[in-house]
Amino acid sequence: MTKILIAEKIDSICPEMFREAGFEVEIRPGLGPDELRAALADCEGLVVRSAVKVTAELLAAAGRLKVVGRAGAGVDTIDVEAARARGIAVLNTPGQNAGAVAELVMGLMLALVRQIMPAHAALLAGRWEKNRFSGGSELGGKTLALLGFGAVGRRLAALAKGFGLEVLAHDPLVADEVITAAGARPAGWPDILAAADFLSLHLPLTPETRGLISREVIFNRLKPGARLINCARGGLVDEAALAEALAKGRLAGVGLDVFENEPPGADHPLLAFENVVVTPHLGASTAEAQVNVARSIAAQMIEYLRR
Ligand SMILES: NC(=O)c1ccc[n+]([C@@H]2O[C@H](COP(=O)([O-])OP(=O)(O)OC[C@H]3O[C@@H](n4cnc5c(N)ncnc54)[C@H](O)[C@@H]3O)[C@@H](O)[C@H]2O)c1
Repeated sequence: MTKILIAEKIDSICPEMFREAGFEVEIRPGLGPDELRAALADCEGLVVRSAVKVTAELLAAAGRLKVVGRAGAGVDTIDVEAARARGIAVLNTPGQNAGAVAELVMGLMLALVRQIMPAHAALLAGRWEKNRFSGGSELGGKTLALLGFGAVGRRLAALAKGFGLEVLAHDPLVADEVITAAGARPAGWPDILAAADFLSLHLPLTPETRGLISREVIFNRLKPGARLINCARGGLVDEAALAEALAKGRLAGVGLDVFENEPPGADHPLLAFENVVVTPHLGASTAEAQVNVARSIAAQMIEYLRR
């Protein structure tokens, strides 16, 4: 019988669908590397989310494995080259959590412009600092620049337009007509950087995009007083340069759901600023998105394994 190892916590719809399809399912979140290798030895399918890193070494120990499914968007936690070399398919669920990520971006932008986090903290500490926090600004009329116009970028464009933002998008793989039809304006690199009141990242982390938001971009290309939102991947941004730009007042604020190393230590330089709003990689963590990704990965893996 075809056996699937689910190596992380996932919505119950996923194992239910595998069992209905006649597969044997083992659910074992939180395994250490040795236990994981042993558990995978007799499995044809592996389901992961973000915590388990699917390395070449792990794949080498999985003699029967035919498919790895990531219940999430992107495959940067999986050694895709090593999988390809072994004939193991790698699947993921782009788009299934786009609404969740896009809404978090809106939340981070609103928190930044209205200083919701420091105002909340002051009030909890017994301080009614109405004057101190009354210099907020509005999203309406500002320019939101999107790097990457895939599932999240498109969903975000729709939400942002409802707030009266002007939306620019840069994506070398998406035709200008598609961007225009989605209500955004296509913009080239690096012009899009200079136009952004908010720059939001929605592209994958690859060897080409690692460090894309470099010191040069942060200090010389972005408009002074811009705000950066990163709900994609930490490695896209030079975090040290970002902290320096905040300290010098070059940027007005930063919203981050992702970090180069997760979790960042409490002494991470970006955690020291009042105008930085952070969440612990929660982009896809809504009830709706979790059901969507669990259902989508099970459906894709069942179809693949039945071919
Ligand atoms: N915070 C979270 O929990 C969370 C959840 C979902 C996705 N993500 C991240 O967000 C990213 C986007 O998600 P998605 O579902 O929209 O993915 P997607 O694959 O639908 O879209 C990504 C887009 O980025 C574009 N792109 C690639 N290289 C580019 C470049 N150099 N410049 C501009 N655009 C480029 C691609 O052409 C594609 O259209 C994912 O790759 C993932 O890393 C994070």
